[in-house]
Amino acid sequence: MLIRREAPGDVAAIRDVVVRAFPTPMEADLVEQLRADEGWIPALSMVAEVDGEVVGHVVCTRADLDGVPVLGLGPLSVRPDRQRRGVGLALMHAMLGAADALGEPLVVLLGSPAYYVRYGFRPATALGIVSPDPQWGEHFQARPLTSYRGEKGRFTYAEPFNRL
Ligand SMILES: CC(C)(COP(=O)(O)OP(=O)(O)OC[C@H]1O[C@@H](n2cnc3c(N)ncnc32)[C@H](O)[C@@H]1OP(=O)(O)O)[C@@H](O)C(=O)NCCC(=O)NCCS
Repeated sequence: MLIRREAPGDVAAIRDVVVRAFPTPMEADLVEQLRADEGWIPALSMVAEVDGEVVGHVVCTRADLDGVPVLGLGPLSVRPDRQRRGVGLALMHAMLGAADALGEPLVVLLGSPAYYVRYGFRPATALGIVSPDPQWGEHFQARPLTSYRGEKGRFTYAEPFNRL
């Protein structure tokens, strides 16, 4: 398996993976809206490739914590026939390593605590990070990176997340 940055020729294959990973095309549409948004960070859209085929994708986009630039992670998608073989693990570690190397302080996401705890995520509210929607509860999680200095406040995703 190779983990690498998204290349221009990957767009259709990424859509296919995301459509197949989720029950509805909502997340695939979100990826495309994010790609067209000013919050898109080309270095932080990554694919997993097996035998020349894209089988997984993860993206982080620019988010805001009371004026401090942070990252919002998601969607994370692995093609159903390739799940439970470490593709998600490889994508997540590559992403967190890249974000840390870029000097980003914090990655925030909405997802299953049981899955993301293994990557060092914890409930974001415990860090003083205020969720855009209180109903997200423990699913609203954050992973501090090396440059994190205890920033707190109201979290805002890149604009296309608001259309969900
Ligand atoms: C979640 C997802 C990205 C994981 O990718 P993957 O390549 O299958 O993950 P890995 O092989 O690295 O790890 C698999 C482990 O994660 C666990 N896991 C997967 N989804 C989980 C969840 N929602 N909650 C808890 N554990 C989960 C599996 O049980 C498995 O653990 P096990 O092998 O010890 O039982 C993939 O299942 C997927 O694309 N799912 C559909 C889309 C989705 O839900 N994305 C995440 C949105 S928050």
